[in-house]
Amino acid sequence: MSHNAGLRAPAQPGDPVAAIDTPALVIDLDAMARNLAAMAAFASERGFRLRPHAKTHKSAAIAKLQMAAGAVGVCVQKLSEAEVLAEHGVPDIYISNEIVDEAKLARVAALAGRIRLAIAVDSRTGIDRLAAALKAAGTRADVFVEIDVGQGRCGTSPAAAGELALRVLSNGLHFAGLQAYHGGAQHLRSSAERQVAIEHAAALVRTALANLAEAGIQCPLVTGAGTGTFALEAASGVWGELQCGSYVFMDRDYADNHLAGSAPGMGQVAFEHALFVKSQVMSVGAAHAVVDAGHKSHAIDSGMPGVWQGGFEFRNGGDEHGILSPVTQADGRTAALPAIGDTVWLIPGHCDPTVNLHDRYIGVRGGLAHGVVESTWAVDARGCLT
Ligand SMILES: Cc1ncc(COP(=O)(O)O)c(C=O)c1O
Repeated sequence: MSHNAGLRAPAQPGDPVAAIDTPALVIDLDAMARNLAAMAAFASERGFRLRPHAKTHKSAAIAKLQMAAGAVGVCVQKLSEAEVLAEHGVPDIYISNEIVDEAKLARVAALAGRIRLAIAVDSRTGIDRLAAALKAAGTRADVFVEIDVGQGRCGTSPAAAGELALRVLSNGLHFAGLQAYHGGAQHLRSSAERQVAIEHAAALVRTALANLAEAGIQCPLVTGAGTGTFALEAASGVWGELQCGSYVFMDRDYADNHLAGSAPGMGQVAFEHALFVKSQVMSVGAAHAVVDAGHKSHAIDSGMPGVWQGGFEFRNGGDEHGILSPVTQADGRTAALPAIGDTVWLIPGHCDPTVNLHDRYIGVRGGLAHGVVESTWAVDARGCLT
């Protein structure tokens, strides 16, 4: 479901990087491949299932690369994302989120007849409605009971996990395990803070496991974790599946997390920036330069984009403008302003909502300076919010 599919793409395969029209959403394919391989190696060497979150990229092409690298499937947050990725050939999808609307659940049940599908629940109503929809369609799905492990978002209390799992089973559904994701921990800046948050989350998972055991229910799998904390979940001994999403692109906000050196946490795996907005200098003042990319080109919910070339601060200049000011370096020097027409590579503050602003990815092989366009993938699930 690529909107404006007829619009002129910013580049064609074979074009040199210099020819990519701006602003454009560009993937450094070599850096992305290294990120995919690093996460896949982390999971396989330690015996974890990897189910990356496709809310980051909304792309069937990238989901398939992740599965080719060893992922068991992908997660999505929305039914329409699942439908679009399935339509484009992704065979195994987990909706790591609650769906309670009956019309949507009828679509969930229909989709479950086409691919291997899993879904999260956190209420009796949600379970009963899901069961009714699957029964009417004659299909099956794996059901994860979500517990709140510290974010204060969706999820039941760990002490209610057994009751909900029993309801899943008594409705004739397949209880696949627990969903335990702590979004609030991912961007805590210090590794010590992230460690405390995930230790707390792990304690809550253990409480839920004990609660399940009291109800006589075995938990097949605990799924969760994100790019900021996955090594901590992995070290805890309670999670079996990792749902990291942003590692594939690494936005500026994630790079602002302090790495932990030898401590567990993000420090054990270094990911590279692989997603950029290519912009062009369109005006130059006495002490600033203006590029043709504003907040219609990149999300600013997690702050302004970084400037890949370094030496500049980016200020929001509105929908279509970004303002670059040289930053005074430690040695007192400042970078020279770029010239009109120069390329400036921006590192989005937050990759997921940035991707949702674009119709296409321009995939570059051979580096941002002298590479060549290899692919122009649609952002397949762009705008899939339902
Ligand atoms: C349920 C769930 N799992 C996994 C992720 C992936 O997290 P990240 O992109 O930080 O790796 C998210 C992101 O918001 C999420 O909501």
